Amino acid sequence: MKPVTMVIIGAGSRGRAYARYALEHPEQLQIVAVAEPGEEYRAHLAEQHNIRPDRVYSDWQALRKCKKVADAVAICTQDDLHKEPAVAMAKKGYHLLLEKPMSVNPDDCQAIVDAVKAHKVMLSVCHVLRYTPYTVRLKNLLDSGVIGDICSIQHLEPVGYWHQAHAFVRGNWSKEAVSAPMLMSKACHDLDWLRYLAGKSCLQISSFGQLSHFRQEQKPAGGSDRCLDCKLSETCPYSAQNIYLYNVYKPRVGNNTTEKLFVGGSVKQWPWDVLTPEPSYETIIEALRTGPYGRCVYACDNDVVDHQVVNMQFEGGMTASFTMTAFIPMTDRKTSIFGSRGRIEGDGRKLYWYDFLSRTETVYDTHAFAGSSAAGGHAGGDEALMKAFVAAVANNDPSYILSGPDETMESHRMVFAAEQARRENRVISLQCL
Ligand SMILES: NC(=O)c1ccc[n+]([C@@H]2O[C@H](COP(=O)([O-])OP(=O)(O)OC[C@H]3O[C@@H](n4cnc5c(N)ncnc54)[C@H](O)[C@@H]3O)[C@@H](O)[C@H]2O)c1
Repeated sequence: MKPVTMVIIGAGSRGRAYARYALEHPEQLQIVAVAEPGEEYRAHLAEQHNIRPDRVYSDWQALRKCKKVADAVAICTQDDLHKEPAVAMAKKGYHLLLEKPMSVNPDDCQAIVDAVKAHKVMLSVCHVLRYTPYTVRLKNLLDSGVIGDICSIQHLEPVGYWHQAHAFVRGNWSKEAVSAPMLMSKACHDLDWLRYLAGKSCLQISSFGQLSHFRQEQKPAGGSDRCLDCKLSETCPYSAQNIYLYNVYKPRVGNNTTEKLFVGGSVKQWPWDVLTPEPSYETIIEALRTGPYGRCVYACDNDVVDHQVVNMQFEGGMTASFTMTAFIPMTDRKTSIFGSRGRIEGDGRKLYWYDFLSRTETVYDTHAFAGSSAAGGHAGGDEALMKAFVAAVANNDPSYILSGPDETMESHRMVFAAEQARRENRVISLQCL
């Protein structure tokens, strides 16, 4: 079979991650065009994939004007720049791989769903969690009925203190006006996942949460606005020096930053590749000296929450509670699922099934070694999502896609309702929306 062809719109962190699938599986997927305003990222991707110069664009709008050049498009622009390219590319007949969130308001999400249906193209929203081997095993266990009826679920998203500082205080998702509420930008995956596990619709939702810590008034006396100049950096866990000049994936040892930065892992990956396209000690230092990631976490213009809880009631009375918090090491999500005949606990890699009748525990190791962060490919989710989407396009069969238009629209509505509940301090019924 001929490989599926794909255009990348937005060759940032996610665009590059999905394009990597074509390098690893050239017999399945070929990247034939790229649209990206950033010169270095654009040139890098074009070179890696050997893209013809006349198919390298600095803006996705150019694709609107030319004839269709591929089977599919991956839309990996920032949250507020999803709707326009999604609708336009659907109209041109491209199948869409669309980064989450679909868009930042319900009307735009609906417009995308309407466009893919009207133009009979497939849509896969990048809810990578649905595709991980861990989720596949968990979903099979639940569907096989080993714990009976699911009565309630408790789910924790440990965003992580340094990840919060990186993405939601200093980075792209720190301001609602330019991205989305954090529940949408970070945890639409989780509400989508809970809906997927429940296998039922959510009927009612409530939520509380706020920005407590990363505020001007929490700044320690004597701190400066940029971390490289700050005399408190040794005592601040959020210092950019602490985060970017050491390996964030390992315990911090000693004070030799140059040495520690390169011990036990490459910096040519997330989060360092967000600071600069070619991370090295010198380019990282320059980015911290001049760019947004070197700012004090108490002197940024962030406004998204740093902790939030959501409570949900599903059809049949099943309940779920969800906590998203910055104030924890960044680890895999933790989940407990309480059923009428047993309980399953999961930590992103292992599943522990306790059976009430036999009083035994069975452990399933899903071997998700790489971890659930973007750097780890979301525990196999990125790879499995791409594999499913490419198979769907190659076989013209949407059943490979687990995160299509209707299921994604439903779980996005849960997020919009939870945000409304938080702001208006009340319970929202999804049936009334
Ligand atoms: N599925 C997941 O687990 C996951 C993880 C992280 C981020 N995301 C989502 O992926 C999306 C992209 O995130 P990212 O981390 O790659 O961000 P990024 O900023 O690294 O990449 C976005 C890219 O879009 C480019 N862009 C801007 N305007 C453009 C235009 N007119 N035409 C073409 N390209 C344009 C930017 O230059 C940038 O390189 C966001 O919506 C984010 O919420 C999803």
